[in-house]
Amino acid sequence: MSKVDILMPRAMLPVVMRGLEEKFTVHKPFEAADPDGLMAEVADRIRGIAVLGTRIDAEFLVKFPNVEIASNFGVGYDNINVADCSAKNIVVTNTPDVLTEEVADTALGLLIMTARELSAAEKWLRDGKWESKGPYPLTGATLVGRTLGIFGLGRIGKAIAKRAEAFGLKVHYYGRTRQADVAYPYHDSLLGLADACDTLMVVAPGGPETHHAVNSEVLAALGSNGILINIGRGTVVDEAALIEALEKRVIYGAGLDVFEDEPHVPAGLMALDRVTLLPHVGSASVQTRDAMGQLVVDNLTSWFETGKAVTPVPG
Ligand code: GLV
Repeated sequence: MSKVDILMPRAMLPVVMRGLEEKFTVHKPFEAADPDGLMAEVADRIRGIAVLGTRIDAEFLVKFPNVEIASNFGVGYDNINVADCSAKNIVVTNTPDVLTEEVADTALGLLIMTARELSAAEKWLRDGKWESKGPYPLTGATLVGRTLGIFGLGRIGKAIAKRAEAFGLKVHYYGRTRQADVAYPYHDSLLGLADACDTLMVVAPGGPETHHAVNSEVLAALGSNGILINIGRGTVVDEAALIEALEKRVIYGAGLDVFEDEPHVPAGLMALDRVTLLPHVGSASVQTRDAMGQLVVDNLTSWFETGKAVTPVPG
């Protein structure tokens, strides 16, 4: 029997390349002299897509009439229009669970780095200032006594909450629905959550529903001791409003792993103290990224062998 044809629009990790090439015929336009020509030539044969960041919507799919599954690398899938896929009976899968603990670890690290200015303190040492000028200035913020508001209490949000509790923080949350089995205080609006907390952890997914949900009003509600951490998606935070809030000391500081227009980071953010900036490394260890890559492969394999995906997203 001939192998199923898979499209890989962008280069992916070796674990994905190898895993797919063992079982499928993989088409890689990024290696072709004429990427569009290659895609047009194989378009009718493509039954699955291995996705890394490519926008998959009706406009993209119209070129590939026989696609059955889009297997996304990443737990977030705001690059994929699920409604457009469902309309064509295309299953969408993502890579949950395997990255939960890694992202939660990064989130807590980023929070501590931000409150205690650990990046700047290390730079102080490396720049020789400990010897030439003396100790790094005392930080104006502390983690101790903070109340952490989690925006998006899914699997990663809960893993962050567990860690935050171990650090002695009080935890509140806001999400679309109150969760029956969760004891943390629930707020039915993001503004209500920000009002009740001095630290806001954004774990929410991207997409139109959450676009710029963290705006100047929410930041003002967080208060002058407020710290914003974003480990979810850059689009959830109005970056211009955040820069203004930081410049005017409406909030104290921010720790960001994600940005509105990656990899571009606005100069306004770069210029600020009390801001920790990471290049979207939440899940970025070899171990966790390999596990995510394997899940991309497993979803495609399972779909074509059994007709069931391992981790489909709600349609
Ligand atoms: C990373 O941002 C992911 O969605 O997995």
